[in-house]
Amino acid sequence: MQPAVINIFEKAAKKAGRILIRDFGEVENLQIQSKSIGDFVTNADIKVEKSIIETLKYYYPDYSYITEESGTIKGDENTIIIDPIDGTSNFIHGIPHVSLVIAKMTANEITDGIIYNPILNEFFWASKGQGAWCNNRRLRVSNRKILSDCLIGTGLPFGDGIYKDYLLEIDEILKVSAGIRRLGSAGLDLAYVASGKLDGFWEKDLNLWDISTGILLVTEAGGKISKLNGSKWTTKDRDILASNNYLHNDLVGKLSLQ
Ligand code: IPD
Ligand code: CA
Ligand code: CA
Repeated sequence: MQPAVINIFEKAAKKAGRILIRDFGEVENLQIQSKSIGDFVTNADIKVEKSIIETLKYYYPDYSYITEESGTIKGDENTIIIDPIDGTSNFIHGIPHVSLVIAKMTANEITDGIIYNPILNEFFWASKGQGAWCNNRRLRVSNRKILSDCLIGTGLPFGDGIYKDYLLEIDEILKVSAGIRRLGSAGLDLAYVASGKLDGFWEKDLNLWDISTGILLVTEAGGKISKLNGSKWTTKDRDILASNNYLHNDLVGKLSLQ
């Protein structure tokens, strides 16, 4: 049975998800007309987030909020973290791999969260000690143990985000795995590790709203989260390595380049 907090997050996500679906359809129209869609998409992010906050504020008026679009709202020690559209580049290009992410954090620990892809109607949730789920199906990480059988997700930096060693990291993983996927939504990448679709995932320079729910999904599905060098990940860290557990040491070996 879903905990009450997940029911409330689901209500907020599904309501805001209808706005996202409507705007996603509109992006496809704008695309065809070759109109500029930058401002339109920024508006979609803001509208979706406004709707989520409006629903959640009714139930949790005293909580703190950390949001991608509206910044931080100071409240009590319980914090809700929101990414209204994770996968904005996909959204702009009409690729239906996008999600809404909402998580609850108390004392620097993520305790509950949801990731919702309204276009594919996939609703992921996890609560501490209560497992990871997608549309009422319990999730388990994969049990592949040999890297050469494994698909590993990542997020590639671009523009100002490019860092020195990313080509080396890719080289290391490509040589030993069954391939790399860059799907474009860090939240869904982690949900896919939790679902056993991807066997591992790494990315640097992420924000907490990208991965908040994802880390809980992975651990509740039996997987492991750490920094790239294998040390303990905390909510202050921006780099992340996730795996089905079996592969973790091998991946740390390949990705600890400095
Ligand atoms: C981005 C996505 C992407 C990741 C980027 C994030 P956004 O979030 O999660 O997969 O590679 O680092 O910023 O901007 O689409 O919310
Ligand atoms: Ca994001
Ligand atoms: Ca976003």
